[in-house]
Amino acid sequence: MSPETVLPILRSVTELRRIVADWRRDGLKVALVPTMGALHAGHMALVARGLELADRVIASVFVNPIQFGPNEDFSSYPRREAQDAALLTSNGAGALYAPSADVMYPEGFSTTISVGGVSEGLCGVTRPGHFSGVATVVTKLLLQALPDVALFGEKDYQQLQVIRRMASDLDIPVRIEGVPIVRETDGLALSSRNAYLSATERATAPLLYKTLQDVGARLIAGEDAVSATAWGKSEVLAGGFGSVDYLDLRDASSLKPLDSLDRPGRLLVAARLGRTRLIDNLGLLPR
Ligand code: PAJ
Repeated sequence: MSPETVLPILRSVTELRRIVADWRRDGLKVALVPTMGALHAGHMALVARGLELADRVIASVFVNPIQFGPNEDFSSYPRREAQDAALLTSNGAGALYAPSADVMYPEGFSTTISVGGVSEGLCGVTRPGHFSGVATVVTKLLLQALPDVALFGEKDYQQLQVIRRMASDLDIPVRIEGVPIVRETDGLALSSRNAYLSATERATAPLLYKTLQDVGARLIAGEDAVSATAWGKSEVLAGGFGSVDYLDLRDASSLKPLDSLDRPGRLLVAARLGRTRLIDNLGLLPR
């Protein structure tokens, strides 16, 4: 779409299905990029990959209340639809689906999708109920749009594995595509929550990725996971983070704990910097 074209903003499932049906009738393939808005270049990488795999990309923006815990940032989560729509337009998206909470969860809504295994551990421990909130809304979004492909970032690596499991277990006929993490030049993974960081915290934040790389080098050199990750946690705490929820080496697909890097692994971290919780991860292959 050219920048002067007005991006259609869809508010209901009917409007969403109508535009998808129109495109299908024209023989076009459709990609869906689910988001919670406050869009940045990380989200735009998903749109760009969507345009490689399909003819039209729909981005959804919905700050999903059921994936936030009671003491989390649901009410302060940044909401800026006009800016999001402009960014989507200039990046070639074909429509924005922005339903209200009443459309997504009408009176009487009572179904939850809960994914075992990969949802347990890591963020599943510190954010109880989070992944069932994600799996429920993503199931709904996939069934509402029925795209050919849906794109998710490796930034939320556990979420990506939960969604892959859910789509496969429920036979949802959609290709789930993972997209590599987009980073700032200093290594910090782009995130809507980076906006919460003070200038001092922002200067400290790249330590998270640097530590993942250093721990990764130790693991590749043969150090065991317990000692390498313990070293990494102390680095992060010494560098100014307030606490580390986890820093763990896991199997890259099942997310089961690994004692050492004897197969493709993923190093995952969640740590708190001031009032902001940052997550990051790094793929590792044995030497
Ligand atoms: P949100 O945090 O807005 O992220 C939307 C998508 O963008 C996710 O798939 C996320 O992994 C991806 N993303 C965010 N930052 C990225 C980066 N720096 N590089 C690559 N991809 C990045 O994740 C959610 O929303 C929600 O949980 C959602 C899936 C929409 C369900 O409500």
